[in-house]
Amino acid sequence: MQDGFGFCGIGGAVKKLDNNPENKVFFKDVAGCDEAMQKIMEFAHFLKNPKKYEEIGAKIPKGALFVGPPGAGKTLLAKATAGESRVPFLSISGSEFVEMFVGVGASRVRKLFQEARKCEPSIIFIDEIDSIGGARGHGKFTDGNSEHETTLNQLLVEMDGFGTTSGVIVLAAINRPDILDKALLRPSRFDRQIEIDKPDIKGRDQIFQIYLKKIKLDSSPTYFSQRLAALTPGFAGAGIAKVCNEAAVIAITNDRTYVTMEHFEAAIDWIIGGLEKKNKVMRKLECRTVAYHEAGHGVAGWFLEYAEPLLKVTIAPRGTAALGFAQYIPNENLLMTKEQLFDITCMTLGGRASELSLHPADLALLYGKENIIIIGSLIYYMYIFCWGRSRLGLRMTWRSEKVGLLSFPQKDEGYERTQPYSNRTEEIIDKEVRDWVTKAYDRTLELIEEKREQVVKIAELLLEREVLHKHDLLKVLGERPFKSSEPTNYDPFTKGFQEEQQPG
Ligand SMILES: Nc1ncnc2c1ncn2[C@@H]1O[C@H](COP(=O)(O)OP(=O)(O)OP(=O)(O)O)[C@@H](O)[C@H]1O
Ligand SMILES: [Mg+2]
Repeated sequence: MQDGFGFCGIGGAVKKLDNNPENKVFFKDVAGCDEAMQKIMEFAHFLKNPKKYEEIGAKIPKGALFVGPPGAGKTLLAKATAGESRVPFLSISGSEFVEMFVGVGASRVRKLFQEARKCEPSIIFIDEIDSIGGARGHGKFTDGNSEHETTLNQLLVEMDGFGTTSGVIVLAAINRPDILDKALLRPSRFDRQIEIDKPDIKGRDQIFQIYLKKIKLDSSPTYFSQRLAALTPGFAGAGIAKVCNEAAVIAITNDRTYVTMEHFEAAIDWIIGGLEKKNKVMRKLECRTVAYHEAGHGVAGWFLEYAEPLLKVTIAPRGTAALGFAQYIPNENLLMTKEQLFDITCMTLGGRASELSLHPADLALLYGKENIIIIGSLIYYMYIFCWGRSRLGLRMTWRSEKVGLLSFPQKDEGYERTQPYSNRTEEIIDKEVRDWVTKAYDRTLELIEEKREQVVKIAELLLEREVLHKHDLLKVLGERPFKSSEPTNYDPFTKGFQEEQQPG
């Protein structure tokens, strides 16, 4: 069997580029990853002008790995490279190499490279290479099934097989390069890693602009893109595309012919917290508990210098777990200091502190699910920061002195020993975490008691309106007592909001 773009013998797994211009993707369809795009352009340039490189004696990288979290646009960028470079583009997904039969993988690899060489200059794109490129003799690939290994070995042979000036470039996408077989990363194989990360606020603004163009809006796209970028911290490109589509769907369900900010907000809330449960009637007592909890987060964040100020807080129940949530303006810096970490810990504990101190119903303990999760993740935070590293890619500038300069690989980094430190060190870490959380909780409790009146006001307002935005908090709490000395990425975005939303 063979479809229009498949190749005989590879079972149709390889897809050659769809030549229909309407389906083509170009660099203009990708935003928020300028550096990655620039690097990729170098490849496109090489494929178009190989002579120039040969003449000067430059070696062209044979392959590049696109590395990044899910939905950040790796596959999209590969498609755009295909669209821009105007050379044959052969794409296959890693999992398609290794299907059912032993030996199929290796032969598919061989055929793939044969085809690519036939139509030089060309690009091979192996999506989700994780499924074949995992380290040999490691973890899940040691199941006695050597199919992965032979496939991987064949890939290595093929990548060595063509000369450096050959016009075949191999691109591959992966979520986590650390599990990749080191042999693949050697020079003259995937010797370049192109990081495609989640976009920052400016990137999100640009990505929103791409998708907003396709939607009928009640105001200009830039009006929306800036606000939406500020409301979607942590979203990758895929999330942004989803927000836009959902907003349009919500507009239609509401019988509107254009999309408004309200629809976008509903879409974002839905994606963050799950569907709003309009029918889920919370008991009065439950509502109060949630309102006091969220008000605690909000007030703590407002009055702690290094905490992330609140963007929005709601007590509309959503999804299966969340009874409400608070959304913050996140710190997009790559370094976090001890002070910042402390304030953020306090802010996280603010919910529980407020609940227990101002609204000490028994229910508070039942509504502990979220708290437990939060405290659990705090401990995790504390661990990682003891270890000087973090899953978020943050580097802490401060480590616990008691743990010293030690830093341990995490389990999911492929390190097999579950506990790479002694019991004594574990005790030290445990104690450090406990002390840290206790100290933060005491501080938070003190703050909540001190701002008791404001917490009550916010909680009551929440009960009345269900949703509060930053400008509502501003009215009750006044200006935040701290002016950040340096402007943040968010300032230009939030400024527009305030001017407009403040009455008068
Ligand atoms: N930087 C971006 N600019 C524009 N759209 C984007 C961007 N990133 C993602 N998208 C949108 O999200 C969709 C999914 O992205 P894509 O499939 O490229 O993610 P990925 O990085 O390959 O994820 P995975 O690791 O899960 O395969 C794209 O088809 C596109 O609509
Ligand atoms: Mg992908």
